[in-house]
Amino acid sequence: MTRKIMLILFISSSLFLSTAGSSLAQPANEAAAYVGAAKCKKCHQEIHEGWKSTLHPYKFQKASPDNIVGDFNKNNRLEINGKPTTMLQKGEEFFITTVGPDKKTDTYKVNYVIGEFWKQLYVTEFPNGELRILPVMWIVKTQQWKVTKAWSKNLIYQNACSGCHNTGTQINYNKADNTYKTTWSDLGVACEACHGPGSRHVNAPEENKSDTIINPAKIPDPRRAAMVCGSCHTRGSCCEGKYGYPKGYTPGGQLNFMFSEKPKLHPDGSSKANRQEYIDWRSSGHAREGIVCWDCHYTHQQGNSNKYQTKLPGSSLCRSCHQVENKGVHGIHSVNNCIGCHMPPIGKRATKGDVHSHGFKLVSPRKTIDAGGLEKQPNSCNSCHYHKDDRPEEMLKILEKVKSSRKNRKTFN
Ligand code: HEC
Ligand code: HEC
Ligand code: HEC
Ligand code: HEC
Ligand code: HEC
Ligand code: HEC
Ligand code: HEC
Ligand code: HEC
Repeated sequence: MTRKIMLILFISSSLFLSTAGSSLAQPANEAAAYVGAAKCKKCHQEIHEGWKSTLHPYKFQKASPDNIVGDFNKNNRLEINGKPTTMLQKGEEFFITTVGPDKKTDTYKVNYVIGEFWKQLYVTEFPNGELRILPVMWIVKTQQWKVTKAWSKNLIYQNACSGCHNTGTQINYNKADNTYKTTWSDLGVACEACHGPGSRHVNAPEENKSDTIINPAKIPDPRRAAMVCGSCHTRGSCCEGKYGYPKGYTPGGQLNFMFSEKPKLHPDGSSKANRQEYIDWRSSGHAREGIVCWDCHYTHQQGNSNKYQTKLPGSSLCRSCHQVENKGVHGIHSVNNCIGCHMPPIGKRATKGDVHSHGFKLVSPRKTIDAGGLEKQPNSCNSCHYHKDDRPEEMLKILEKVKSSRKNRKTFN
């Protein structure tokens, strides 16, 4: 390689770094393409193994007896608007009989499943390649079938979901004959979902490896860096409502996303629903100070004690950065459970309270009283103190008393 070419390469790759993710930085004929996680495995074996142990790769899978958790054999009927929907297994295949968009009852094959740990949804492929979410979901904790509205709303998986549940999706819609020839580089959330398309990196000579791929930890602005996770752990729409995910976003870029017009929030602004961790986080002191998702979460490794990939279990995670004295509110309990008060489980994914608030603020019982009850606004104290005597009014009294006592005054404000 001549020196001149080397120089050009150097300039274009440093340009690439400084405007990371923007397509401007890549010469048109060299735009990076998605290659799939199997290609990365060759040189990053250990990370690949770690990633396999997280939930990210398993988001969206081809249906098979190994990954179907819903009961297609016994408890396999649900009435929807007075009409039965039945779930049936035939050998290795799964089917759902229900009323279709044409108002006729039909049997649909389950081609793919989404999720398996909290809830599972089922996807069928229409003859024109359109993927549709069938009308029932399985709630793992309660072992029950429930209705999901994606079917009656005629949501098309490619437009409503695939940007967050697959990697490197090419929708390939042909308007002329209304067909879809959709492809993706990985079924689930793979390397390139967080690192951007990797063909240039894979093909680059050794000395250019570092400059040809996004490492989120090296994105200088922490708010922009956190968008890597925020592109999926969020809710809203893009492109005038056409997509449910930020289509066109790649890691390092700016997230241009309309957060839901009607966000699923409690009156105090904390999240009521799942996949809003980024929305919560943006409002937090952690965001202000540049503490991002991967300061607390492993990115390609299972957590020590849970599925959530946290770097340390429970309060020890918080204590790795915060020294909190055992007095005032922090002296109420013998066991100072930071997460219990600062990340109360008040959101819902499949069952009530299976998602933690990521605003890291104490949700005061006062907010509950102001909003008119626990149904409208849960709080930190009552997520554990649910006995009849522990009304929000009582909890607030205790909290105020502790906070106003003279010896504690110094700790707060
Ligand atoms: C042919 C071997 C090879 C393949 C294939 C490969 N990488 Fe790399 N990768 C490297 C080398 C070498 C480095 C540089 C390591 C260093 O500098 O410490 C690297 C570095 C990285 C970095 C860190 C960059 C930085 O600046 O910190 C990331 C992220 C990365 N690779 C992701 C990927 C992804 C994603 C894929 C698949 C799309 C992939 N790699 C495929 C060899 C490879
Ligand atoms: C959920 C997002 C996500 C996925 C999926 C992901 N990464 Fe990463 N990766 C990150 C983030 C964030 C960092 C920087 C912070 C860190 O290391 O925790 C990183 C860092 C890296 C690094 C550089 C630091 C190191 O540990 O050597 C390499 C190399 C890398 N990733 C490769 C891969 C490969 C290969 C895959 C797929 C097998 C993959 N990543 C999947 C988010 C992800
Ligand atoms: C392309 C979309 C996408 C990106 C980017 C992404 N995630 Fe996820 N993440 C998901 C999906 C979908 C799941 C659900 C997996 C499941 O439940 O099977 C998930 C699950 C998780 C979980 C496991 C617990 C749970 O609720 O399922 C953690 C923790 C997590 N993500 C953190 C991160 C972090 C940190 C980043 C950024 C470094 C990130 N994610 C980037 C889509 C994404
Ligand atoms: C903007 C990104 C995004 C979009 C769009 C999206 N999801 Fe998700 N989804 C996630 C993330 C992130 C998680 C996991 C984290 C969480 O639940 O808090 C998740 C979780 C799930 C789960 C639960 C998984 C489990 O293991 O229990 C199911 C099922 C699911 N999504 C189905 C869908 C369907 C169907 C659509 C389309 C109608 C869709 N999602 C659209 C990001 C998205
Ligand atoms: C200050 C630490 C911290 C930061 C920053 C953080 N998380 Fe978490 N996250 C946690 C803890 C702790 C849990 C709960 C783990 C448990 O129950 O043991 C959690 C749980 C989760 C879960 C599981 C579902 C839920 O909400 O309970 C997801 C998904 C997740 N975090 C994603 C993210 C994303 C995306 C970001 C960045 C926008 C982020 N987290 C930032 C500490 C953090
Ligand atoms: C990687 C270091 C780090 C970790 C881990 C961490 N924090 Fe923080 N936290 C900070 C920094 C830095 C600040 C901002 C400076 C300050 O206000 O002390 C902060 C601020 C806060 C604040 C004040 C927020 C505000 O809005 O002003 C609370 C409350 C908090 N953290 C709780 C927690 C809890 C609970 C955990 C564990 C789930 C945790 N932190 C984990 C570094 C961390
Ligand atoms: C009984 C509930 C409760 C528990 C448990 C708890 N906190 Fe707090 N924390 C509070 C309250 C109340 C405040 C005062 C601010 C407020 O009202 O929002 C506070 C304030 C803070 C602040 C802000 C700085 C300050 O001192 O004003 C940090 C940081 C913090 N807590 C970290 C932690 C950590 C780390 C743990 C675990 C070791 C923890 N907290 C456990 C209720 C709790
Ligand atoms: C993570 C669960 C959890 C959260 C969150 C929590 N508590 Fe507790 N609380 C307990 C448990 C368990 C005990 C009994 C054991 C102990 O004292 O540690 C207790 C005991 C107490 C006691 C002592 C009661 C007695 O009879 O001696 C008071 C007062 C109290 N909590 C107030 C609060 C207030 C106020 C909040 C909100 C700021 C709160 N708690 C949040 C679990 C919790």
